[in-house]
Amino acid sequence: MYKKRIGILTSGGDAPGMNAVIRGVVGSIIDENTEIFGIQHGYKGLINGEVFEIKRSDVAGIINLGGTILYTARSEEFKTREGLQKAVDVCRKLKLDSVVVIGGDGSFRGALELSEYGIGCVGIPGTIDNDVTCTEYTIGFDTAVNTATEMIDKIRDTASANERCSIVEVMGRNSGNIALNTGIAVGATAILIPEVKQDFAKEASDRIKLMQGFGKKHFIVVITEGLIEINKFAYEIKKNTGIECRTTILGHVQRGGSPTVRDRVVASEMACLASLNLKENIKNRIIVLKQNKITDIDINEIQTFKKDFDFALYKKFLQILE
Ligand code: F6P
Repeated sequence: MYKKRIGILTSGGDAPGMNAVIRGVVGSIIDENTEIFGIQHGYKGLINGEVFEIKRSDVAGIINLGGTILYTARSEEFKTREGLQKAVDVCRKLKLDSVVVIGGDGSFRGALELSEYGIGCVGIPGTIDNDVTCTEYTIGFDTAVNTATEMIDKIRDTASANERCSIVEVMGRNSGNIALNTGIAVGATAILIPEVKQDFAKEASDRIKLMQGFGKKHFIVVITEGLIEINKFAYEIKKNTGIECRTTILGHVQRGGSPTVRDRVVASEMACLASLNLKENIKNRIIVLKQNKITDIDINEIQTFKKDFDFALYKKFLQILE
């Protein structure tokens, strides 16, 4: 009897909630007519044929785990014509009807290329950066922001005790979403993001000086990675304001940990919609959050979106002076 064969992979940077997606897809798709195959190490593993059949028991008890049981990778080879062809050949050899791709913009571009070779794909957005253009939300963002907030709350204790300025660098690649939301949550004095181009040291120094005038003695400054070298920045702040500074790069702590309720729920809901599509033989869709509703779009549309940064939220942040 013919059985539908679906592959599933995680690609790019891992994000808390990816396991919840895998569990959701596997749990809602397996039936007497459908088998599902885990592809390890993203597109790299697809090229190398690192594939195994996943059973329901493989995904039991993983909804609360960070990371991804399928492992992930960034594959340079997949970006070449030869690499893509190898991946297509593996899909055909394994007789995969479709592949579920969990990842960010780069992973979806890969899925689009696979779909152009006739391999059906369904994408689910997972990255802590929340920078995927076609969706309002990406799984992992809420957990990353909560983790960063928890870490900076601890840093604040020592900044306050020593009357210092703590400068904290958060992740986000080219997006200020993590910095903006974390910065607001920790009551930062300055938030520096790539979307607002300015003299970063001057902006932070001016806001610190303003608040020094109100009697404030300790400060938190949140900056997005890649904007400015953090120790050079700290030197400028000390020079401009006289305050002692300490620097912290939060790094990969933001990518780990148990996913929040929001990430688990969004992951489960998106997984169910992906499965529904696959069961009804609807392929080449990307599951997205649009106007706060989980829905899906054609994979060819991913290039057409431009995600607006929430400048209104940034402006509100600027209004609050303490
Ligand atoms: O895309 C997620 C992310 O964590 C970015 O915020 C960061 O710039 C990048 O991945 C780091 O990637 P890697 O773990 O490969 O160094």
